Amino acid sequence: MLKRTLYCGEVTEKYIGNEVVINGWLATRRDHGGIIFYDVRDKTGIVQVVFDPTINKDLHEQAHKLRSEYVLGIKGKVRKRPEGTENPKLKTGNIEIVVQELEVFNESKPPPFLIEDDADISEEIRLKYRYLDLRRPKILNNLLTRNFICNIARQYLNENNFVEVETPFLIKSTPEGARDFLVPSRINPGQFYALPQSPQTLKQILMVAGLDRYYQIVRCFRDEDLRADRQPEFTQIDIEMSFVEEEDVISICEGLIKEIFSKTLGLKFDKPFPRMTYKQAMDEYGTDKPDTRFDMKHKNVTEIFKDSDFKVFSQVIENGGIVKSINFKGGAEKLSRKDIDDLVAFAIKQGASGMAWIRYLDKPESPIVKFVSEERLQKLAQIMDAKKGDILFFIADKESNANEILSRVRLHIAKTYNLIPEGLFNFIWITECALFTWNEDEKRYDSNHHPFTSVRDEDEKYLETDPLKCRAKAYDLVLNGVEIGGGSIRIHKKEMQSKIFNLLKITPEDAQKKFGFLLEAFEYGAPPHGGLAFGLDRLVMIITGSSSIRDVIAFPKTQRGQCLLTDAPSEVDPKQLKELNIKIDI
Ligand code: AMO
Ligand code: AMP
Repeated sequence: MLKRTLYCGEVTEKYIGNEVVINGWLATRRDHGGIIFYDVRDKTGIVQVVFDPTINKDLHEQAHKLRSEYVLGIKGKVRKRPEGTENPKLKTGNIEIVVQELEVFNESKPPPFLIEDDADISEEIRLKYRYLDLRRPKILNNLLTRNFICNIARQYLNENNFVEVETPFLIKSTPEGARDFLVPSRINPGQFYALPQSPQTLKQILMVAGLDRYYQIVRCFRDEDLRADRQPEFTQIDIEMSFVEEEDVISICEGLIKEIFSKTLGLKFDKPFPRMTYKQAMDEYGTDKPDTRFDMKHKNVTEIFKDSDFKVFSQVIENGGIVKSINFKGGAEKLSRKDIDDLVAFAIKQGASGMAWIRYLDKPESPIVKFVSEERLQKLAQIMDAKKGDILFFIADKESNANEILSRVRLHIAKTYNLIPEGLFNFIWITECALFTWNEDEKRYDSNHHPFTSVRDEDEKYLETDPLKCRAKAYDLVLNGVEIGGGSIRIHKKEMQSKIFNLLKITPEDAQKKFGFLLEAFEYGAPPHGGLAFGLDRLVMIITGSSSIRDVIAFPKTQRGQCLLTDAPSEVDPKQLKELNIKIDI
């Protein structure tokens, strides 16, 4: 066997005159009958090999028969490429290997698509033939970067006294708020394991056990609706620490992120990451993951339209709703009437009943201005800083809807009209998040994080009187509008935990059934503790400039949760179902 002495990407000028052996796949063929030039590829890159009939006629004949993606061993002599044929884009662009010996390890069917970065291939085909897709340098590099990031994280955490501990995948349901994936137990008929939505309860128990500082690069499973940044199984860099307060966790985690971004992208950080309260984020951006790379902040203009003649707004306000607006600076000049209509249609698709607008040309122009007094218009222009050339958009709705819809419109405008500067990495901690939200359907409170999150000391008094006023000891890290991590200081006292379960309408029996093991552990000396988990896939997505986390996962699922490579999920053998005492009823 011709065994590699160098990787393809390593064959540079310093080897000119040397004999080398490379192993790899035939990438590009340039066979014009005379001298044959092929590119051979491995995970480090490509190198050009030359079959010259005047040097070796037999080899040249064999070379004719080689096809794309054949697996080769090649021995040859490195030489400088003739003047004018260099390729400065390649590490190996100044040399070529004159082939002396060839071994064909395997043939290949013609691949269903060209193995090139720019090839325009449907995702369905890419995922079905993922092993070929992964031969494309860009996707392969994403995996290499992912590996690099994991190494940086491990090194940083180990240096800071963290211990990596594996936690089981077959466990009892965990409380992250998504649906569980269930696994039936054959040995215990009628009983199920749940795959962990995160190791949350187990890492807390490791704190009770005295591990002090835990981490794990760990798979999590959540049966939820999928999006570009959501997969049913994804990976967290999961962290938990004992004897800490919020600032301790934030400081360690911020250090980790800085380490990762400086070692991968060379970013320099001379200041702590900025922080924003949850309330400010909701008020100014309508979302708890604000993209602060561009302005266009939300303004609440409810007061201006209160009791106005514009019934669409005043009625929403009467019913307890609000009116929010954004100013697309310069938008009046950029947007045609059709562009405006398209934006309104976008808002309606997001659930708005409409989206009013006012554009400032020589004077404020809009179907709604006739309903708004001169005085109100002036106040509006002042609050919104509306100048000639600007256009305002308005959403009137109940607060949560207005926030959500207008935040999407803001992002949509920014993307459509290229308002987001390239190369910015805006990290921001979102703090003081509300502990609860009100669940109108079920008439109870829901945890904003999970039910083990502590309330801020100064808000403990509201637990009984006004729980929605309680802010949590919780923190999320947001990067360019993507939530890359989140965590909290946990409750470590049983009485407080019971109080919270009460508000969540989790009965003591239910709590016992679901989390009895954790509550019991808390009775044996639980230290104060807290932690955070980063979404590894999202970090790698941003660092590699990918548009979806599917591009940074070796074998991802489609939006419908399918693995096109292995054809999962699929039906199973009736015998297997019988063993599990399961009957299908669809
Ligand atoms: P949380 O649920 O916020 O917290 O998850 C932490 C981070 O994981 C990433 N993430 C996802 N990435 C891809 N696909 C998904 N479906 C997905 N869901 C979440 C996000 C998110 O910020 N146990 C707590 C952490 C803690 O409190 O310590 C937890 O899991 O980047
Ligand atoms: P209508 O009277 O329904 O034609 O609405 C008048 C204007 O108000 C139109 O420009 C609508 O798009 C807009 N509009 C309607 N409902 C809302 C709403 N909830 N928020 C903001 N604008 C709205």
